[in-house]
Amino acid sequence: MVRRLMLPDGMPEVHADGRRSAASAQRNIDAILDLLESHAPKGGRALEIASGTGQHISRFAEALRSIDWYPSEADHDKFLSIEAWRRHANCANLNAPLHLDASALPWPADLGRFDLIVLVNLFHLISEEETDRVLRGVSSALKPGGRFVLYGPFSRAGRLTSTGDEMFHAQLQAQDPDIGYKDDGWIRTRAAEYGLGVWQVTKMPANNIAFVFRTAI
Ligand SMILES: C[S@@+](CC[C@H](N)C(=O)[O-])C[C@H]1O[C@@H](n2cnc3c(N)ncnc32)[C@H](O)[C@@H]1O
Repeated sequence: MVRRLMLPDGMPEVHADGRRSAASAQRNIDAILDLLESHAPKGGRALEIASGTGQHISRFAEALRSIDWYPSEADHDKFLSIEAWRRHANCANLNAPLHLDASALPWPADLGRFDLIVLVNLFHLISEEETDRVLRGVSSALKPGGRFVLYGPFSRAGRLTSTGDEMFHAQLQAQDPDIGYKDDGWIRTRAAEYGLGVWQVTKMPANNIAFVFRTAI
């Protein structure tokens, strides 16, 4: 299920060729790419969940060419921009977008298995139950030794740690009381239950966190 939410970033910029640029993605793309350059496998298949505009994955595919990248989205309206970014990048290793509601289980069997799954800025926009299902989906679609890179805003040990986070969480809950920030400890516990072990946790710009999880070999 995709909620229509008012987010602080507002509307993405629209380019003449159909690409959309979200300001938040522009701000975090370099930091996330740096992280992927350290943690991505040397080759294989990578899935991005909730690709949104498609900015992130087109840049990742340009930078990490030995990996075969698959964008995905639950919202069909996002496909035009993802396709436009794909044409713009013109990389043979960037595939057409797949339709995937990551919180609907089971994930389609024909998706196959991945060496890397990347997810940026989704968990605060969905409920705990949906988040739990996404973690289960990720675990089901990773190969042994696969990596899951998860980026976003989280509460830490039950606390929102900046005024900006308190305001954003309150804005989200005013729109839907089921959504809002998830706690870092809760994420670790749920992920561990599905065989996703924490490999590294990194503080990222704007008080965000990036988790790198790995499945057992
Ligand atoms: C804040 S945007 C983030 C987009 C992109 N990852 C980024 O960081 O720019 C959240 C995205 O999640 C998508 N989404 C919402 N619920 C989803 C679900 N259950 N499965 C997959 N994508 C979902 C929305 O359509 C939207 O594109």
